Amino acid sequence: MVKLTDMKPQQIRSEYLKFFEQRNHAIINPAKLVPDNDPTTLFTGSGMQSLLPYLLGEKHPEGVRLADSQPCFRAQDIDAVGDNRHTTFFEMLGNWSLGDYFKEQQIHWFFEFLTEVIGLDANRLYVSAFIGDEKNGIPRDDEVADIWKKVFEEKGIKAEIVEIGTQEDGNKRGIHDDERIFFYDDKENWWSRGGSLGKTPIGDPCGPDSEVFYDYGPQNHNEGYGLAHPASDSGRFVEIGNQVFMQYRRLEDGSFEPLASKNVDFGGGLERISAASIDSPDMFKTALFWPIIEKLQKLSKKGYENHRESMQIIADHLRGATFLAVDGVAPSNKEQGYVMRRFLRRAIRFAFELGIEQNFLSEVVPVIADLYADDYPEVKAKREEVITLLVREEKVFRHTLRKGLQVFEKIMMSPISSGIVDNSELYDHKDRFKVEYKKTMDAEDMFRLYDTFGFPVELIKEEAFMKGIAITDDTQRGFDDLMEEQRERSRTAAKGTFKGGLSGDSLMHKKYHSAAHLMGQALRDVLGEGVAQKGANITDERLRFDFSWPEKVNPEQIKQVEDIVNEQIAKDLPVTFAEYPLAEARAIGAFGEFGDKYGEKVKVYRMGAENEKPYSLEICGGPHVDHTGQLGEGGKKFKITKEESSSAGVRRIKAILI
Ligand code: ALA
Repeated sequence: MVKLTDMKPQQIRSEYLKFFEQRNHAIINPAKLVPDNDPTTLFTGSGMQSLLPYLLGEKHPEGVRLADSQPCFRAQDIDAVGDNRHTTFFEMLGNWSLGDYFKEQQIHWFFEFLTEVIGLDANRLYVSAFIGDEKNGIPRDDEVADIWKKVFEEKGIKAEIVEIGTQEDGNKRGIHDDERIFFYDDKENWWSRGGSLGKTPIGDPCGPDSEVFYDYGPQNHNEGYGLAHPASDSGRFVEIGNQVFMQYRRLEDGSFEPLASKNVDFGGGLERISAASIDSPDMFKTALFWPIIEKLQKLSKKGYENHRESMQIIADHLRGATFLAVDGVAPSNKEQGYVMRRFLRRAIRFAFELGIEQNFLSEVVPVIADLYADDYPEVKAKREEVITLLVREEKVFRHTLRKGLQVFEKIMMSPISSGIVDNSELYDHKDRFKVEYKKTMDAEDMFRLYDTFGFPVELIKEEAFMKGIAITDDTQRGFDDLMEEQRERSRTAAKGTFKGGLSGDSLMHKKYHSAAHLMGQALRDVLGEGVAQKGANITDERLRFDFSWPEKVNPEQIKQVEDIVNEQIAKDLPVTFAEYPLAEARAIGAFGEFGDKYGEKVKVYRMGAENEKPYSLEICGGPHVDHTGQLGEGGKKFKITKEESSSAGVRRIKAILI
């Protein structure tokens, strides 16, 4: 058996999978970070997410015992990063029983894994169980408490069972002497995808859970949280695993019905278990993070100890962005792409503060990729592609970051606003961002930061908080108005371009419009999926097309794009359209501006032979030609006549059919 100090997180992962494989579990492939067929959520946030149907009774092809290590992304935890133990990206070790073993077996196995395989000291482990919910007829989980009691006592550890209640009750009470097993309410010890008992989504599986905590000792108890107890956020006790006993399903009327089979859903953070294995309250000292931190120290010439928070944030965000890129997400202004952009830009902003102004991602992302390449084949396969994609986003943002920061400086230099505004309660930031405000930002500056300098809204707010600049209700309202005006402008422009005044319906116009679709796809083929359309303007004489790209498109790439478009014209592909609800259009992989509302129907134009994968699939109002061969009528070819910069990070191409 491997000794405690020898075990790297990578080994803990493989030992965990081996442990459960030896106990007849099928090791399943983890789901993608961006769930395939689940419009209800942007990211995979727990191991069970892709197993929902099986927890509800469907038969899993691999059997009734499953295990895996699932990359998870919880964007909502962004504000908690920087406290040693929270990350937005993490790996969840998971094992499941689908109506097979239950509480007793699960608890014994997890305890055995922690103490025998990883070698944790059982004296440092504390556990919790569900206190019960009378209203819904769910009993206190005495069964779990009794199992734990025996488990500890077999190790010669006295284990008293205590009823605590809420987290606040615990903060007031603390823990005493031999107490080791604690009953908490549903906020702590009930699990569903929505959280506590009352927040369980209708139709979802759920149940009481039992968490295991590692005790880092009183020296790691932070002030301001009351007395220490396992479910406190004070830093002394850190949760390293959660065993959910999934045995209910929530009904339409809000009540809970027992499931036909009693399941186990276990999830434990690999990073946290690894930190416990080296007795480090700081997760970032484990081998899954430390090489990243070392690289940041080297690039910034600054020490981790004095810059923990920034370095933790950077390391966390870049791990997440790297895995998102591996799963095919590219920075954009929509959905997953927006979250990714926000994380990347925030990391770049924090790095800038540390004095890292260049070659940042090209140095750090390879370190992250190398940490996972051996265990995640897709990380290895996509290594270069991912580095290129992220570096490109860095280039785009770096271009404007400094200018954007100057806007903040200018506000800082402005005269002190009359009175001090404190609207910190408007934002869900941590206390450390709550400051007194002496300056206010006006809506135009906020809009400029967003629109011209590419600062995600959340980053503007955070930067403002840190500098003591207020974003008042007026600022926000003005900003919203400017955004609306801009949307209106682009809608009008799109109408003028594609629909209005049916000069837009002339045959030449249709041809150029169809050529724009082919070219958009050809640009993605040649330059990568990071290309997003930023605007188009079509006349009967030419097509103009703006798209996100940080550098000049070189003549060779231009030639490739032309060749591809001409090839698709030569194939004379049929052009057809169908209407879909937005989510479905996205699911079939259509590009283009999505509508404003979910459920809204959109037109999807398809260019491709029947029964074949289409060459282009785009959400668009039309009109278009009927088949691509029309673009080549009279022996004409598609030709790019100009390639130039349009604005920061946006290129403009003009093209003709000649
Ligand atoms: N599904 C449980 C969790 O995410 C294990 O904590």
